Amino acid sequence: MTTATDLPDGSVTTERLLLRPFTLDDLPAYVRIRDEASVRDWLRSPDEPAAVIAERSLRHFMDEWRTRGYGPWAVIDRRSGELVGHHGLRHMPDFDGETEVLYTLTERVRRQGIGVEAGRAALAYGFDRLGLDRIMAITLHDNLASRGVMERLGMTYRREATHKGFPVVYYAIDRSDWQAAAV
Ligand SMILES: CC(C)(COP(=O)(O)OP(=O)(O)OC[C@H]1O[C@@H](n2cnc3c(N)ncnc32)[C@H](O)[C@@H]1OP(=O)(O)O)[C@@H](O)C(=O)NCCC(=O)NCCS
Repeated sequence: MTTATDLPDGSVTTERLLLRPFTLDDLPAYVRIRDEASVRDWLRSPDEPAAVIAERSLRHFMDEWRTRGYGPWAVIDRRSGELVGHHGLRHMPDFDGETEVLYTLTERVRRQGIGVEAGRAALAYGFDRLGLDRIMAITLHDNLASRGVMERLGMTYRREATHKGFPVVYYAIDRSDWQAAAV
């Protein structure tokens, strides 16, 4: 089990990662990640330059931190100091205001358990620090990597849903399930 250390600005460190709010300095590296073919594909990115998509997302994530006090983190690989993706919690107005855990990592760091390592920190942040009762996640049916992260985090399939016009699967974990699994 990963142990995470909370820092006062909303950052968290785990064994291999620093999870911290984004700054505009992250934009060039984040554009490169959002421009990877697999990222564009799985996120069903609109037909716009990655620079536009990345800046919109990054500003949205920063706004969430500013106005709500939490949001998706920049994922920093502590070994290299590089930005390797986004991961964390996001308020979802179109899902009755529930909180989603969402994530995307650059191709070169995948399949090393980083999605799950950051995910455990995100769930701990949501349940322990924010006092949430439930955290949900959605993904396209055939995104086995995303579903794998959800399942390794103890989230369970609940229902079919629609998001931005795409059919998705909806997974969730309730506080009681998370507390039971953490024992
Ligand atoms: C989804 C994503 C963040 C997963 O990150 P990751 O660090 O590679 O995931 P992990 O290494 O923690 O893997 C967790 C589990 O997911 C499953 N999994 C991961 N990658 C997989 C793949 N390519 N195919 C099938 N299952 C996969 C496995 O069950 C894995 O556990 P295991 O390695 O013990 O078997 C990453 O693949 C990604 O960024 N994909 C592109 C963007 C995206 O799809 N984002 C999610 C949108 S909903």
